[in-house]
Amino acid sequence: MIKVIFFAIECKYNRKLNCLLLQRMIGTEIEIARAFLLQDEVVAIPTETVYGLAGNALSKKAVSKIFEAKNRPHFDPLIVHVKGISEVLKYVEEVPQMAYDLMGRFWPGALTILLPKKSCIPDLTTSGLSEVGIRIPNHPLTLDLLNSLSFPLAAPSANPFGYISPTSAEHVNDQLGSKIPYILDGGNCSVGIESTVLRVQHNEIEILRLGGISVEDLQAFTSNIHIHAHSSSSPAAPGMLTSHYAPRKPIYVGNIRELMHAFSSERIGIFSFKDDYGLEAQRILSKSGNFTEAAANLFSYLRELDALNIDVILAEYLPNENLGRAINDKLKRASAK
Ligand code: TXA
Ligand code: MG
Repeated sequence: MIKVIFFAIECKYNRKLNCLLLQRMIGTEIEIARAFLLQDEVVAIPTETVYGLAGNALSKKAVSKIFEAKNRPHFDPLIVHVKGISEVLKYVEEVPQMAYDLMGRFWPGALTILLPKKSCIPDLTTSGLSEVGIRIPNHPLTLDLLNSLSFPLAAPSANPFGYISPTSAEHVNDQLGSKIPYILDGGNCSVGIESTVLRVQHNEIEILRLGGISVEDLQAFTSNIHIHAHSSSSPAAPGMLTSHYAPRKPIYVGNIRELMHAFSSERIGIFSFKDDYGLEAQRILSKSGNFTEAAANLFSYLRELDALNIDVILAEYLPNENLGRAINDKLKRASAK
């Protein structure tokens, strides 16, 4: 492995980075990830939520490469990952007290806070919006990586636009491996669903995306919480595209028994919360009905079912509470036609 690090560093100084770009590399070497990032390249990074496709958030060149690798429309802004709360004021104009309180309670963690950006954050990173989404990810490798850099990392989920987010290095490799030089392998993501995206205004919390920090978690701060209505494909509410998180196979969400009846002539895959429907092509999110376990399994199980020899995936909603809300939101989007 030491040899690989020297190879990466040597490539950097010899301007032979392209030789590495031709190879797929997966590993746990922060130095390699760092070497690429310093060259405005993009690398996949582990976080506790999902894997991110990271580049220098202050570099238009790096940010362009992120959009390109993901095939992501330019109207959908990127989240900026920082190494500490004290860094935030470098990138935003002001931080309301409640936002500081939320940072203190949930960072590092699955919470992205929208704040008015400073001009050092390129418009490309925020798709021309005046706010930037910021969070500190909770993964030791990525925190070490951030601490080794003088710039923050823009990182959307490391999946092709519109597909299920990756929760392991293998997931990233399957879909973007040929497009990026390095995947920093931090194992399976512990939370398994993306961060909650919110803004704080006049002591109110407005949630733009349900995610790993639940509404119940946030209620400790204020009872004034609004969940933004879902839009279809409006740039005014980016991140809220209806057809998102979609597997390749059609997915129907409802009463599984009734759906099984309706689709009896098809090869069926079952995606249930805790009940066993006795089929081989079946994934049960959490046999004990635990929301945290269900979230951690959500995307990897959906991928597994998607890869089976079936025609349709039949799924059910979870109780609409705690992380069940975010999971239901994703199921709804995955099944949107
Ligand atoms: O957990 C996560 O948030 C992961 C990891 C890698 O940090 N990242 C992630 O990024 O899910 P992405 O780009 O796949 O989803 C971020 C969502 C986008 O849909 C985007 O529209 C929204 O957050 N978002 C980001 N910046 C925003 C902004 N300035 N205003 C409104 N929405 C924003
Ligand atoms: Mg995403």
